[in-house]
Amino acid sequence: MANVWRKKPISAYHAEAGKSELKRILSKWGLTSLGIGAIIGGGIFTLTGIAAHDHAGPALALSFVIAGVGCLFASLCYAEFASVLPVEGSAYAYAYGTVGELFAWFIGWNLVLEYMMGATTVAVAWSGYFSKLLHLFGLHIPDWLNNDPITYGGFAFNLPAFLITWVVTAILVKGIKEAASTNNLIVILKVAVVLFVIIVGIFYIKPENWTPFIPDQVIDPDGTSHFGMSGVLTAATIVFFAYIGFDAVSTQAGEAINPKKDVPFAIIASLVICTILYILVSLILTGMVPYNTLDLKAPVASAFAGAGITWAVYPITIAAVAGLTSVMLVMMLGQTRIFFGMAKDGLLPRGVFGAIHPKFKTPYKSTLLVGLVVSIVAALTPINNISEMCSMGTLLAFSMVCLAVLILRKREPNIERPYKTPMVNIIAPLGVLFNVFLMTQVREHTWYAFLIWGFLGVAVYFMYSQKSSNLHKPN
Ligand code: ALA
Repeated sequence: MANVWRKKPISAYHAEAGKSELKRILSKWGLTSLGIGAIIGGGIFTLTGIAAHDHAGPALALSFVIAGVGCLFASLCYAEFASVLPVEGSAYAYAYGTVGELFAWFIGWNLVLEYMMGATTVAVAWSGYFSKLLHLFGLHIPDWLNNDPITYGGFAFNLPAFLITWVVTAILVKGIKEAASTNNLIVILKVAVVLFVIIVGIFYIKPENWTPFIPDQVIDPDGTSHFGMSGVLTAATIVFFAYIGFDAVSTQAGEAINPKKDVPFAIIASLVICTILYILVSLILTGMVPYNTLDLKAPVASAFAGAGITWAVYPITIAAVAGLTSVMLVMMLGQTRIFFGMAKDGLLPRGVFGAIHPKFKTPYKSTLLVGLVVSIVAALTPINNISEMCSMGTLLAFSMVCLAVLILRKREPNIERPYKTPMVNIIAPLGVLFNVFLMTQVREHTWYAFLIWGFLGVAVYFMYSQKSSNLHKPN
């Protein structure tokens, strides 16, 4: 049992960073762009609809502030870790160097929920926007080919979600360089449309749409609560999804030109930029039209249509389709890099998760496997089930990072920290509390699924990973 607390020596991280097998081509702003590419997506383009319409009303902006504060605490802690341990692997790697192997494994296991289920959620959101785009051009996909069987209520297969996953997989197998330059273009388009929403939308705001700012609480006959302060909190757990992705930057450390400085910068910069954009967009949307007229599937486009600017639906829908693709790109990339880090440590089979393509220099087998899982789950599962699991895994990972940064300060007070979390004794505990609190707000059945996933992870650890770990070998 003592084995579960064994730690990977910090010196091993530095040695690995020095001989990374991946190409170092990402600059400070390239990394920030990757972060923004991962962050702006289904959260703002899709989930704002249900969050405002059913839970927060105009106070959606407040929900974004609450979720954003929790993420900000986590990002400040992430940034310190990324500067100390500049390797691929994200929160998993950080925990392995500080707390211990089982703790780290468990974080890695939950990051699968964040990255794989995040990519899967976005694949389904992409499919919704893509069919809307086709619709704008007079084309129609049959419902049974554009839904999962549960939502449809019969035989169905979400074909667009399945196909886009394989397009992204192919780009990733070919290489990060191509992926990064495609991503930069899409990020520019996506940010341009978000700015467009803010700059044009501001002229269509009717302040009366903001009152009451927090609508009175309503309780359905089945006990479901809407609005009021509890509605604002529920909406915060929904829009939390919109922030997921800033930590994806940390999984790219192996490809960063100057990881110690640029990764912390990119983590914080991408989160702060997106937080400001989100708060503005949510104020604009709920100011343009009454919150109860926002569409659940395409709220941003619907606010513009509702305000009489129908032509704006085209650029918004096109940018959403492209923007969601870039989120998938970074999420799937992040997942393969986490697997790569775990395989290098011997916790996952190296032959699959650590295999690098001789020509493309990418972890191609792992990428194909991730593509397979994401494409199948996306084609067959309802979006809300996937997105909640994604949020749970992420919230736990964030809490553990905040905890682990404190542990490292105590255990290794003198190691070099190119970036230090400010007021760590306040920020880190607040980060833990905030993120655990948001976990308690998630629906009960998601908790059951989350617990099953957790037990499975612990079982795999004791049956495989503990014995195959590099630290298990005599040398
Ligand atoms: N933050 C990402 C999105 O909203 C996951 O799509």
